[in-house]
Amino acid sequence: MRIVKVKNYEEMSRKAANIIAAQVNLNPQTVLGLATGSTPIGTYERLVELCNNGDVDFSQVTTINLDEYYGLEPTHEQSYRYFMNKHLLTKININLANTHVPNGKATDIEAECRRYDELIENAGGIDLQLLGIGHDGHIGFNEPSDEFVMGTHCVTLNEITINANSRFFNSRDEVPKQALTMGIKAIMQASRVLLIASGDDKKEIMKKALFGPVTPAVPASILQLHRDLIVITPLDI
Ligand code: PGA
Repeated sequence: MRIVKVKNYEEMSRKAANIIAAQVNLNPQTVLGLATGSTPIGTYERLVELCNNGDVDFSQVTTINLDEYYGLEPTHEQSYRYFMNKHLLTKININLANTHVPNGKATDIEAECRRYDELIENAGGIDLQLLGIGHDGHIGFNEPSDEFVMGTHCVTLNEITINANSRFFNSRDEVPKQALTMGIKAIMQASRVLLIASGDDKKEIMKKALFGPVTPAVPASILQLHRDLIVITPLDI
């Protein structure tokens, strides 16, 4: 694990974007695993700038997102497809057909999870996976549990996650209670993982995840076993 200590959110975002851009420049057909949430917004802003300046070309890139709320249309303002289009995908020169988010409106959940795993496999796996971390240690929507779940699956969100995400909805009741998420296998098989976290409210969980026992009770702790984990954070951990 490499920890890059930065001064603040802006520097974290700039450095994360630079690593992603370098990856795409080295391999124009990169498969990027992408994340939603407030943490990566600055990284995406910077990537849009780099693209507009001609410093990175996304025309041959494939993106595969970690997760999606179950039950939300892709056009819903709080869906992760909407988030990705708004913050990144419609602002860079990527072919939208090569951008993937689980289908939150799938009627056959099992089939959708299988489809997503096959999609990741057929893409040759993920070259660079960007991750944030939840206050409960989730990555994607892999919530604390008794076991690490390998494949894409449907999860029931826990109270901490619903409370944290209710800030984006009119009321807590509107937050979907379930989500589809990529499993631990695709994340751990990514050639490189880039974990970003800022805000003092993330300090304790970052310490637990990176230096505590590896346990499904703290899903992000599995990242300690990843062969190429880069952590960029302004937090003193
Ligand atoms: P946040 O979410 O970036 O909005 O804190 C992170 C996450 O839940 O993975």
